[in-house]
Amino acid sequence: MNKSINELLSALTLAEKASLCAGLNMWMTKGIERLDIPPVHMYDGTNGIRKTNSDEEMGITTENVPATCYPTGSAIGSSWNTELLHEVGVALGRESKAMGVELLLGPGVNMKRTPLGGRNFEYYSEDPCLTGELGAAFINGIQSEGVGASLKHFAGNNQEFEKMVTSSEIDERTLREIYLSAFERIVKKSDPWTIMCSYNLLNGTYTSENEHLLNDILREEWGYEGVVLSDWTAVNDRIRGLKAGLDLEMPGPAHYNAKAIVEAVQNGTLSEEQLNRSVSRILKLVERVTGNKDTDSSDVPEYHALARKAAAESMVLLKNENAILPLQQESISSIAVIGRFAKKPRIQGAGSAKVTPTRVDIPWDEIKDLLGDTISMGYAEGYPEDDSMNEELIKESVSLAMNSDVAVLFVGQPEYAESEMHDLKDINLPEHQVKLIQAVAAVQPKCIVVTSSGSALAMRPWVQHVPGVIHSWLSGQGMGKVIADILFGHTNPSGKLSETFPVKLSDNPSHMRIRGENGKLYYREGLFVGYRYYDRKELAPQFPFGHGLSYTSFSYTDLEVVQVDKGVTVSFQLKNTGKRKGKEAVQLYVHDEECKWTRPEKELKAFAKIELEPGENRKIVFELEERDFSYYNTKYNRWVAETGFFQISLGSSSKDIRITERLHCDFGKEEITFHKFSLLSEWLSDPTAKAVLEHCLNDMNEHVTDKVYLSEEFVGFWEDFPMIKVFQMFGQNWMNERSPDDVIQELIARVDRARK
Ligand code: BGC
Repeated sequence: MNKSINELLSALTLAEKASLCAGLNMWMTKGIERLDIPPVHMYDGTNGIRKTNSDEEMGITTENVPATCYPTGSAIGSSWNTELLHEVGVALGRESKAMGVELLLGPGVNMKRTPLGGRNFEYYSEDPCLTGELGAAFINGIQSEGVGASLKHFAGNNQEFEKMVTSSEIDERTLREIYLSAFERIVKKSDPWTIMCSYNLLNGTYTSENEHLLNDILREEWGYEGVVLSDWTAVNDRIRGLKAGLDLEMPGPAHYNAKAIVEAVQNGTLSEEQLNRSVSRILKLVERVTGNKDTDSSDVPEYHALARKAAAESMVLLKNENAILPLQQESISSIAVIGRFAKKPRIQGAGSAKVTPTRVDIPWDEIKDLLGDTISMGYAEGYPEDDSMNEELIKESVSLAMNSDVAVLFVGQPEYAESEMHDLKDINLPEHQVKLIQAVAAVQPKCIVVTSSGSALAMRPWVQHVPGVIHSWLSGQGMGKVIADILFGHTNPSGKLSETFPVKLSDNPSHMRIRGENGKLYYREGLFVGYRYYDRKELAPQFPFGHGLSYTSFSYTDLEVVQVDKGVTVSFQLKNTGKRKGKEAVQLYVHDEECKWTRPEKELKAFAKIELEPGENRKIVFELEERDFSYYNTKYNRWVAETGFFQISLGSSSKDIRITERLHCDFGKEEITFHKFSLLSEWLSDPTAKAVLEHCLNDMNEHVTDKVYLSEEFVGFWEDFPMIKVFQMFGQNWMNERSPDDVIQELIARVDRARK
């Protein structure tokens, strides 16, 4: 563009401005040639680029332009590695440029409220801190290449069931602490050039026109100045949307809405200033993304290597009894490879995030490559594609396993189960696969199970019968090679679960309300999502949040915590105490010991992935801020950190806490705003108010028989009584001329005067 945004705003006609507020087609914004405004080209997605063959088609069920398929969200979320996310972001930015993509529609960062969420595979975690840090690193990577990112789906879209007609009913505190928190962190740390609103309603209003969400919170509070665009067809009332701050409608051209916008400006329902605000944000986006035409060509081998590296950090070694893994090549002569996924791996989920990969590593081929002729390999299909019961396949697998030294089973959620647009029905493996594992484990004690799914799995019917389990997630086109490398110890696993794996589905806190009814879905479990719930309920999961084993071991010592101004510096020593080089995802959790409001037992507030040589020791330092100690106080409508004792814990998982320190943190004192119903305890907690109250009670006691002395006993009993009620109870014969209301108002006025 050769004109400034202000110049363009004055040169554009009203009709042109209105038309700019929707796309040209499925994947482009409109350009205006006479003013040299080029269109923006955007495509999905979250774990790779889904560029369709034409800009007119949605391309969900067809093959698209080949691009690198990286691990999906839940997989790479389990890497706990912000540097990796940045690196993948940079590579995606470069690949985007080479493919003519200026805006990439990702990442997806919604919280995993239920393991049944159909798009869980796209999202990073059940925890907002982990999600927020990873998402920000990813976006910073993409945008460092001059390509825009689109943070989605904003907000409260945590499952697929009837999402377009369902209102997520979420109380304000839960919304702030759980469902908006990752978005907030990402907006503040990476300033995404666009944000995509979700399909659902939030507390009764479509997010595409939700003033509270898009304006009060996103723009006013968080200071976001980028473009908000709609999810594909998420627009309901276009004028309401524009007023709330939804700039761009997708897909376009939506001529009917351009017409409606012009009419709304002409009849005064929408001010031209409001329209100009959206248009200038769209023009700013055009300015940002165009002019970054590619220099590089798409480098398939380099990106494939990165896809493997990312997969290697994502997979989680869940169980390793008697150090069955890594398999020792020299001590086995035959291996049974069982299960269709060994030859046809599930590398990703379905829907708008599905990438047509440039190539795919096949586990069977990779194991064969790695072993050469040293070990004989046998294959059994294990289960049919539709998972219908087939005893023959089980028998064949059992016989192969019996006649081999080791069995490796490849199982998982079937392809058809995990997709955008519908939720999962179950988190158990299909019945046939469960029987298969049980039957093979019964004849072959050296049995390793490699599971694939994009969401938590329940494993209780079989996990206790096998010594080794690797959860490979849906780890993209490089996962086949990585599985082979982990099995035989060429890669030391370092992924840790980014979501809790419950014993069974009904343990999950959302279980009582998984589906919306009559257009409303109440998030009644509130803050207690994921590990926050299992901790509070004292319910043991199968594998906890943050769990993941390594072929080496780490020790945590010398924890020091110091408050510096309103922040806290935390340091400790991490040592690799094993015999192999390895990476540890260290996790820092905070617990508020004293807050009167209910708070989770612990919350993740920082983490780092550290690589150490055997015997190497390193000092790790985290800087926490006041916000890391805060909760969202709906009385004041802001974040509050209360002075008092906190526990700061460092762990290898949310259930494997290695060291903890208590620290008294001083965040100052909240100045209470007194009102008619302020409690006796509140009056006593404020020195000024307490003095005013004592003076008043002395006066009252002269006129009443049942006198009020603020003894420990008296306060212990009456502390939760609103002060006005204390006067009603004890001051009847004193308030001859005045009402209890008058007395309280007088006291409040005295406190205010004394404070000045
Ligand atoms: C999805 C978005 C996606 C868009 C474009 C929608 O169905 O919810 O995540 O970016 O389609 O494909």
